[in-house]
Parts: sequence; C-alpha cells; structure tokens
Amino acid sequence: MKKLTSPQALARYRESLRAASGPGSLRVRACTGTACSAGKSHQVVAAMEEEAKKRGIELEVVKTGCQGLCQKGPVMNLEPSGIFYQRVRPEQVPDLVTYTFQRGAPYRQSLFRQDILSEPVTAMQDIPFYKKQVRIALRNNGHIDPRDITQYIAGDGYAALEHALSSMTPDGVMEEVDRAHVRGRGGAGFPAGRKWKHTRNAPGDIKLVIANGDEGDPGAFMDRAIMEGDPHSLIEGMLLCAYAIGARYGFVYVRHEYPLAVENLRTAIGQAEKLGLLGNNILGTGFSFALDVREGAGAFVCGESTALVASIEGERGFPRPRPPRLSEPVGGLWGFPSNLNNIETYACIPPVVLRGAEWFRSIGTESSPGTKVFALTGKVKNTGLVEVPMGITLREVIYDIGGGILGDRKFKAVQTGGPSGGCIPEKYLDMPVDFDSLWKAGSMMGSGGMVVMDETTCMVDVAKYFLSFTQSESCGKCPPCRLGTYHMLRILERITGGQGRQEDLDELERIARQVQKTALCGLGQGAPMPILSTLTYFRQEYEEHVNEKYCRARVCKGLGTFVINRKECILCGLCAEACAFDAVKETRDAYFIDQDYCTRCKACYTVCPSGAVRIVRSAEEADAPARRAEGDFQRVEDR
Ligand SMILES: Cc1cc2nc3c(=O)[nH]c(=O)nc-3n(C[C@H](O)[C@H](O)[C@H](O)COP(=O)(O)O)c2cc1C
Ligand code: SF4
Ligand code: SF4
Ligand code: FES
Repeated sequence: MKKLTSPQALARYRESLRAASGPGSLRVRACTGTACSAGKSHQVVAAMEEEAKKRGIELEVVKTGCQGLCQKGPVMNLEPSGIFYQRVRPEQVPDLVTYTFQRGAPYRQSLFRQDILSEPVTAMQDIPFYKKQVRIALRNNGHIDPRDITQYIAGDGYAALEHALSSMTPDGVMEEVDRAHVRGRGGAGFPAGRKWKHTRNAPGDIKLVIANGDEGDPGAFMDRAIMEGDPHSLIEGMLLCAYAIGARYGFVYVRHEYPLAVENLRTAIGQAEKLGLLGNNILGTGFSFALDVREGAGAFVCGESTALVASIEGERGFPRPRPPRLSEPVGGLWGFPSNLNNIETYACIPPVVLRGAEWFRSIGTESSPGTKVFALTGKVKNTGLVEVPMGITLREVIYDIGGGILGDRKFKAVQTGGPSGGCIPEKYLDMPVDFDSLWKAGSMMGSGGMVVMDETTCMVDVAKYFLSFTQSESCGKCPPCRLGTYHMLRILERITGGQGRQEDLDELERIARQVQKTALCGLGQGAPMPILSTLTYFRQEYEEHVNEKYCRARVCKGLGTFVINRKECILCGLCAEACAFDAVKETRDAYFIDQDYCTRCKACYTVCPSGAVRIVRSAEEADAPARRAEGDFQRVEDR
C-alpha cells in the first residue's frame, strides 16, 4: 500500500477500487462474526471456496462481520442473486453450490423461515427481521471484510474525512455534528456536539479522543459488532472528532474478552497508518492523529467514564468524583481535556459529515434523531442485532422485527437500558423508542440492551438478577452502593425464597431511593432502576410472593403448593426419583406429593415430562371442591 498524500489522491484511489470490483460477479458475503464463527462459519467458508475451485466457478467470498441475525447463524447473502442463507452447515455446501450456482435455484433447506409451517423467504430484504431496519451505524456490517481497508474505502469509507480535510474547517465539522443533534449512544444520550465543544474550548494545547468499547452490560454486543465488523467507521468518526476539537492522540478502550474486536481494530489501525489516514500529516494536510488500543480487564464499572480513564492510566478502575468532567483540565486522561464517546456514537459521525445534519435529522424523531442499534434478546423468536430509526414503537421491534413472543406466549415486559434500566409493561408497547420516552416510562435507552419477557418470567426474579449483577460489579468505593446493593439483594433473595415480609417492600423502595441519590457513580445510581420499575409496574407480583408465598411465573423456588394432576400423570416415576426429600409418594395407581415433606425445590416440576406436576397458589386451590370431585389432584390426606 502506498501512502496517500492528498484528499484528491484518496478520491482517485476510491474510484480505482470501485472500477476494479465490477458488478455482476458472483460473490458470497459470509458472516464470520463471533456468533457465526461459533457455529462453524469458517469451515463453511473454507468448504465453499474449495467447492467453487473444484467446479471451476469464479466466486469471491467476503468474510464479513455480524449481519444481525446471529441466532440463525452461520448466515450469508449472495450477489447478484440476493439470496440469503441461514444455518448453513459445512456438509451442506456441495448441494448449496450445485443448486445456487449451477442450477440457478435457491437451496431451500438453508432459506429463512419464520417457523416450520411458513414458506421460505429468499431475499434478505424480504425477511421481516431486516425489513424495518435502517442502517447508519451498521451500514457496512455484514457487507465488507473488516480486515481489508480497501473494501471500506470502495464504499464511502474515509470520504467524510476527505471532505472535511479538503473543504471544511474544524468549526464547520463541529457545527454539523451539533446541528445533527447526535446524542450519545452509550448511556444518557448527551449531545455529542456539545461535549465536543466543551473539550475544544477547554484551556491547553493537548486534547484527547477516547472511544468507550467496554460494553459490560449482560447480553449487549452492539459495540463489539461494530469494532469487529467495521472498525474503520469508528476510526473515521474519531478522526473527525479529533479534527474538530484539535486533538492529536486517541485511544479505543476495549475489554479483553473481545479478542476479535481487538485484533480487527489493530489490523485496521495498521492499514490506515500505511495509507496515510492515521499518523502524521494525514493526507498531506498537516493534520495529525495517532490512535491506539487499550485493553481493559472486563469490569463493568470500567465503562463509567472516570473509571475508564483511571483504568487507561494503569490505576484500579475506581470512579472519581465529578466535577471536574473529562472535558475539563485535570478531569481527563492524564489530566488532559478528553472527549469520550461510545463506539456507536463515533460510527454515526462519518455519514453525518458526508450527508449533512439535515439528512440525519430526517431520520428518527425531533429530540432523538437518527437510529439506534439494539441487541434484541430474551423470549422473542428472532434474536440478534437490529438498527432501527428512533421513534419506532416497541411493538414493531418485538413483533415485526423480532417475530413475536417465543411459543406465541403472552408478552409481559421488555427490559431496556441494561442493569441501570427498567422493565416496561405491556401498556407501553405502542410507545415510541427514543431517549425521552424511555426515560419517562421509568427506563432508559442505555447502550441498547433489549430483553423481552413473557408470562414465564418472574419480575421479582428479574430485579434480583440485575441487582446481583450490579452488586457483584460494584467497585465498593462508596458505601451507598457497596452496602445498599447488598441489602437490597438480601431482601430480594428473601422475597424470592418465600421468606418475604410485607415491610420488605417499603424497605426496598426506601433503600433504592437513597442509593439512587447518594451513590458516587452511575453504577450505584442506576442499580435501583430495575427494582423501582418492577415495583411500579408489577407490585402485585411482589405482593403475591410476600403475602401468598406464590410466584405466578413458577420461577422462584420455595413458593407455591406442589401437586400432581392425575389426569396428566403418565406414572413414569421420574418425580419420585428426583425428589431428594422423599416427598413424592407412590401408591398402586398414582403418585402424589406429601406437603409435609415438600421443600418446594422444584426438582419434580423440572423433570416431569408431561407437565403433570403443578405449582398452585395455595393448598386451598389444590383442594378446590370441583377439582377434588373430578379427582384431578390428590393430596396426602385424601388417601
Ligand atoms: C457503570 C457504567 C458502565 C458504563 N458502560 C459503558 C459502556 O460499556 N460503553 C459506553 O459507551 N458507555 C458506558 N457508560 C456510559 C459512559 O460513562 C459515558 O457516558 C459514555 O461512554 C459517553 O459516550 P456517549 O455520550 O457517546 O454515550 C457506562 C456508565 C456507567 C455508569
Ligand atoms: S457507586 Fe458503586 S461502583 Fe460507583 S463508586 Fe460507588 S461503590 Fe463504586
Ligand atoms: S414425573 Fe410427572 S408424569 Fe412422571 S410420575 Fe411424576 S408427575 Fe407423573
Ligand atoms: S455473528 Fe453472524 S449474524 Fe451475528
């Protein structure tokens, strides 16, 4: 690769790359992201290359990053036919090649189907999962090989930088980002333009640009997908920020559990340096910017801005009091004013600069322009990575894109915002998804986790799950978080274990409000959110746990009355074998549960193959006269 010495040279280089990759050639864009790799996508790609070679087919195989539909991986899409294949296994490749490239017909076994009875869908754009998506941050993900800078450049890669360096002042770039009202995609949605201005206006010659790729929320992988699948869009976004605020140095902070992201970022930085797009005198314009990767050890708190700075400095990842902010002298990395943004935020910047603020504001809503990437998970049919315009409703995301609830069960809630977010109930399904609406509903956008829950989810258990995460990730520096999360977790354990007391609910709320107000950093301040939102919307479930010792989702051990429905029992005896307390008794023609011995451990409930073991609200329910007359349930005293 030869160094490019001017913006014009970059434009000429792009044209030559485009001319070389003619349309119409046979091409497979095969996902080799983390999830698809785990599903043997590399073997699929190797088999495909070998098969094509054997048959003399001229086929270009592009190894892309995540294409979004991870649950159905390995996935691939084909050009020029537009066919999309999912769950491709290496042994299917010979047949797939025969059908697709020699017979000109799609290989039906690997086409997408919403469910087993529905007709297969051939083209990617016809799959409901992709239909409503709009891709800005993920514009290249799943399309280019992240290890090959020429593929990024051949699209509009580094065109925004070229435009900025040749025809915009640093202030012009800043104004464009500010007018676009790009709100930070990593947490609270603070406007990026305003943050950049603070840093630029801070005294001192040395300014730094930092990208937050810590991504510690359980289930989140939006930023990983960008770093793995399109690292140059992050680099270009950081370059534009550096140009606007007058910075010469930058760092990408990534957790070391993301080895592919680290590898692809380092490869991308090396290639950009070789082409003169990073380093000294970029594109011969006198602008210089050096970028490096710093790996974190994977603590959730290190995603918090001041803890992240401490971690890069080589200190323990402890948050520091603010002010001073990162953008102010003393507050930033090694004391230099620093601009910190999320990976997705930076990835949105190049299209904003290239296509203009008006274009960006035409997507999404007035107060939350653009798109947001979500990791859609939980009890939904299609899980994966989705990028949607802000303002789309939760219903559209869950039912149109996600395909609805698994097993067509009833929707109960959706959790957004990760461990600092909240659970939103059914009545808000038609609420637009944007920063402000989510906040008003008692949750937040966060970095983009979206966990769908159905009637088999216990909301008290959900609150306990998130709190046990924040409690174990609390750095312990400040007492409200260290002790408050511990006490709240103990109360939740008591409630879900059948030992809850009525006064626990008030106590829980009291501690939650105090921790929210007094914790030093966002980890502690946000930790009570899952509790407060579930107490607001699902208080009845808490009360059932406490007063009736009953978990309607049948998730919590130690709650409810266990009985066997004789009509459904197939007399296999597995429940009796599983019960460690000898509570399941056997008679000549039936099994029944002796309530005096039953510890409600759920062993019988879990092993029963026919669903005959039931957990009912109370002994009275099991004893209901109608049921007793039918002889459905047998209790020990009936025998
Ligand atoms: C405990 C905790 C963890 C966080 N983790 C992340 C993270 O992994 N990625 C991220 O971008 N922001 C994270 N944040 C938010 C950052 O502190 C910061 O607000 C954000 O990186 C700013 O970028 P943005 O304005 O582009 O959103 C976290 C905040 C807290 C309190
Ligand atoms: S709120 Fe929690 S994580 Fe944050 S400084 Fe205090 S103890 Fe540490
Ligand atoms: S495991 Fe279920 S089906 Fe088998 S004996 Fe027990 S209740 Fe009956
Ligand atoms: S990793 Fe392949 S689709 Fe996500």
